[in-house]
Amino acid sequence: AVERSFVMVKPDGVQRGLVGEIISRLERRGLKLVAARFMAVSRELAEKHYEVHRGKPFFEGLIRFITSGPVMAMVWEGPNAIEVIRSTMGTTNPVQAGPGTIRGDLAVDIGRNLVHGSDGPDTAEKEIALWFRPEDIVEYGRAA
Ligand code: CMP
Repeated sequence: AVERSFVMVKPDGVQRGLVGEIISRLERRGLKLVAARFMAVSRELAEKHYEVHRGKPFFEGLIRFITSGPVMAMVWEGPNAIEVIRSTMGTTNPVQAGPGTIRGDLAVDIGRNLVHGSDGPDTAEKEIALWFRPEDIVEYGRAA
């Protein structure tokens, strides 16, 4: 089924100049960009986005990191987009991420893993609603 997933290039990706590389990999995979916003992240938004991790030992560092610089927040669409994006990103810990994946090719540190993608349909829906207004999502056709 055609799905939408929330994807964010994290502050390390922006700082390292990898926004284009990450967008390019998702485009070349065949996914369609339907919303994007380059933005600073408030503490409130970061805490809502990572609510599920509240109380974990890395939570405070994670919030500090994600609010440390701008991110590129996006919505991508395509067949099984959630799973396709997860496999394109590689595992959360870049040490285990396979070569050919974004994290496997470009990262080594779990706390600096370049990119976030929704981990399931319910999360995707919640994250998209948290970061974007419905009217920010652009419907358009694309030549095959
Ligand atoms: P992400 O997919 O954005 O979701 C939660 C993030 O927490 C994760 O990617 C990691 O970047 C970050 N993180 C930092 N330390 C850890 C850890 N020890 N275990 C899991 N995630 C971690």
